[in-house]
Amino acid sequence: MAENPSALHLSGPRISRREALQATAAAAALAALPPGSAAATNAPAAAAVTLTLTVNGRGHTLTVDPRQSVLDVLRETLDLTGTKKGCNQGACGACTVLVNGKRIVSCLTLASMYDGARIETIEGVEKDGALHPLQEAFVEHDGLQCGFCTPGQIMSGLGCIAEGHAGSPEEIQFWMSGNICRCGAYPGIVAAVADAAGRS
Ligand code: FES
Ligand code: FES
Repeated sequence: MAENPSALHLSGPRISRREALQATAAAAALAALPPGSAAATNAPAAAAVTLTLTVNGRGHTLTVDPRQSVLDVLRETLDLTGTKKGCNQGACGACTVLVNGKRIVSCLTLASMYDGARIETIEGVEKDGALHPLQEAFVEHDGLQCGFCTPGQIMSGLGCIAEGHAGSPEEIQFWMSGNICRCGAYPGIVAAVADAAGRS
């Protein structure tokens, strides 16, 4: 069975597959804990990690808890709340961002694994007050209703087009299948990605 393509961690620093799996499992286990649970609150403090990130073209040197996800660093440390936290378990795609040009689900990605990375979020897509062609296409094709999933859909759509996976509606549906829309705006989303792919 094919893996969920949008959930793939396609790039990053050179770490072994074992390290990546261990780190991801640790993040998933933490994410699964109910807020305020004894296990969560009694977890031993972890030594802080200093890392540099370039987010939407701007450099940051940050000191983070090694258990913090990229999503939480974006939202809570950098106050970039455009990237949404839906499931926090890698299942909905609302938290999709581009890291070194590749899309990832940022809720399952430890920030400490990405020292030196270049991250692009929805806040960096608009340039000089002008919407990106994919954003314009989302508006033109009614690719959103409540809008909660939209930042992740747009970042995933940018990745899908850049990967060359936007050649047909079926291909777009497959390669965007990790991005869930509870409103059911899928026809507009697929049309928007196809439209923007045709323009680029
Ligand atoms: S919040 Fe990350 S996949 Fe749902
Ligand atoms: S537009 Fe509402 S969840 Fe997608």
